[in-house]
Order: sequence, then C-alpha cells, then structure tokens
Amino acid sequence: MEKDLDILAIETSCDETAAAVVRNGREVLSNVIYTQIAMHTVYGGVVPELASRKHIEKINPVIEKALSDAGKTLADIDAVAVTYGPGLVGALLVGVAEAKAIAWAAKKPLVGVNHIEGHIAANYIEHSDLQPPYLGLVVSGGHTHLVVVEDWAKFRILGRTADDAAGEAFDKVARAIGLGYPGGPKIDKAAKEGDADAIRFPKAHVHGEEYGFSFSGLKSAVLNYLHHAEQVGEEVNRNDLAASFQKAVCDALVENTMLAAKNLGIRKIALAGGVAANSCLRETLREASANAGCELFVPSPVFCTDNAAMIGAAAYYEYVAGTRSGWDLNAVPNLKLGER
Ligand code: KG4
Ligand code: ZN
Repeated sequence: MEKDLDILAIETSCDETAAAVVRNGREVLSNVIYTQIAMHTVYGGVVPELASRKHIEKINPVIEKALSDAGKTLADIDAVAVTYGPGLVGALLVGVAEAKAIAWAAKKPLVGVNHIEGHIAANYIEHSDLQPPYLGLVVSGGHTHLVVVEDWAKFRILGRTADDAAGEAFDKVARAIGLGYPGGPKIDKAAKEGDADAIRFPKAHVHGEEYGFSFSGLKSAVLNYLHHAEQVGEEVNRNDLAASFQKAVCDALVENTMLAAKNLGIRKIALAGGVAANSCLRETLREASANAGCELFVPSPVFCTDNAAMIGAAAYYEYVAGTRSGWDLNAVPNLKLGER
C-alpha cells in the first residue's frame, strides 16, 4: 500500500481565514474556518483592506488549530498548499506569504492552488467514487463557470458569466430588498416563505454563447420592479420577490447545465461554490439530473462556501500530477481556471 499523503492547506482569498489537513485528497483530518462575515456585514459587503488585516491576525491560530485538531505537527505534513488566486490580492498575499514561510522553514514542498479548482475538488471529500470526466457547475460570489473536468486538474470551460456572478446577484438583490449581507443565505431563507411564481422575471440569454450566463439584466429587472412598486405606492412582498428571483437564477443555471450534459453526452454532474449551498439550486438540479438519468454530486454546505479542506483536496491531485510552486509564488487576483 502506498504511503498516505497529508497536506496542510491554507485559504485566505476572500473573507474566510481557513486551514485544513487533508489525507490523500479525500479524507479531512481537520477543517478550521474563521469567518469574517460579522465584521463585513456592518459595511454591507467585504472590505478588502479589513479582510487582509483580519487574515494577518487570525492565520496563525487557525493553522495551529488545524494541525492540533488533526493530531499533527508540521514535521508530519507532506506538503503545504495555498490558494494563490483568484481573489482579493491583499487577502491572497497573507496566505501565500504564510504558506511560503511554513514550507520553507519545515522544508516541505509548496503547492499553489486555484480557488475555483478548489471549489470543484470539494466534491472529492464526500464522494469517494467521483472521478473525471464530469461536468462541473461552479457558482460562487465571484464566479459562475460551467466546465468539463476532463481529467484530474484538467478543465475545459464551456461557459461563464458575461457580467455578475450568481452569488454577486444574490448579494445585490438582498441588499436592494433590505436583507443585508451575505445575501445568498438570506434570500434562500426568505424564499421558503414566498411564491416563486408570483413575479415573472426575464430569463437571461447570452447572445451567441450556448452555455453563457448573465445575471445583471435580472438584477436590473428586480430593481425596476422595486422602483415601480415604490412609485405606485404598492407594498412589495419580499418573500415572493426573493423566491421569484431565486427561481430565475436557478432555472438559468440548471438549463445550461442540462443542455451541456445532453449535448456532450456526460452523465455525471458536480455542483460547487458558495451558491451550491442554495436549497432551490440543489433541489432543481437534483430533479433535472434524475429526469435526465445523470448522477449528481453536491458537497455538504460547509464544503460549498470557502474552506481550506477543498484546497487540500485539489492540492493532492495537483501534487500527484507533479505541480510544485517555487519560493517566488505570488498572488494572482484574476487567475483563470486551468492556468498556472
Ligand atoms: O464560494 P464562496 O464562499 O466565496 C467565493 O468564492 O465567492 O461564495 C460566497 C457566495 C456569496 O455570494 C453568498 O451570498 C453565496 O455564496 N451563498 C449563497 C448561499 N450561501 C452562500 N447563495 C445562495 N444561497 C445560499 N444558501
Ligand atoms: Zn470561493
């Protein structure tokens, strides 16, 4: 039997300071997340400067806890992995500098990981049977990608958003109807009390792009609806609006995904990213997949939103493929999936 490979993974790309120890890309020995959400809520969104400062403050205790929860010391670790993009540059730099220092001091290999690849790899943690090729739908606060995972750490992007990411649309609409930050979970909750067929919002089509997404038109439609109601003095049912908006987002995401599965003859679909925690999206995609005879993989909500276990999972497959980062590893805020 081959030796186990234990990776210490670090994630600081946005507003979660996170560290985890992951064995062989699948087994989470520890998963520590310090979320900064409460601090940013006051400002209605993530303040990059504050995020960086909080990462600096929290990164050491978070890593220490991840090691001790796993019953490990740095000497037991086989490699150090870190998210180096995409994300907020100042936030990324904290994790990258920390990972370089630890790896150098402990004489361990360093593996830089793409955050979006990490989201997709979150599926490996609880689905030991999942392996490429499969279709991946990554929906987060910063990204909306439909990709073919052709092989371990090999991706082909089919479609992405032309404007806002799905999570961004959730956050902006939530702010417009006074639900606050982060909008996704709040809309999800309000929608449970509302009627999804109450308001008909336009479906976003991207001209000339079969699998493309666009959410800014939908967001504008919601804002127009609110303005109109205000002008004519009509009270808006926020639960109905949340449910109708959420349905429009889910329908667009699910339609493109199922079309790609059909056209490409792929029967395995994996959902990932913060918006993958959305109950409507999970249910709608589960139903559509079952109807089309496709197998659907979805991470538990804790592995959907930002965490370091997913970075450890992705790092394992990168490590096995031979990926090693040098001491010149830098933060790449707009790093694309599949690029190094
Ligand atoms: O993946 P993530 O934690 O960070 C990024 O990489 O962007 O995603 C955060 C996004 C936020 O926009 C948040 O509103 C959204 O995921 N989100 C949700 C839900 N939980 C988090 N959106 C819809 N429904 C949810 N339950
Ligand atoms: Zn993320």
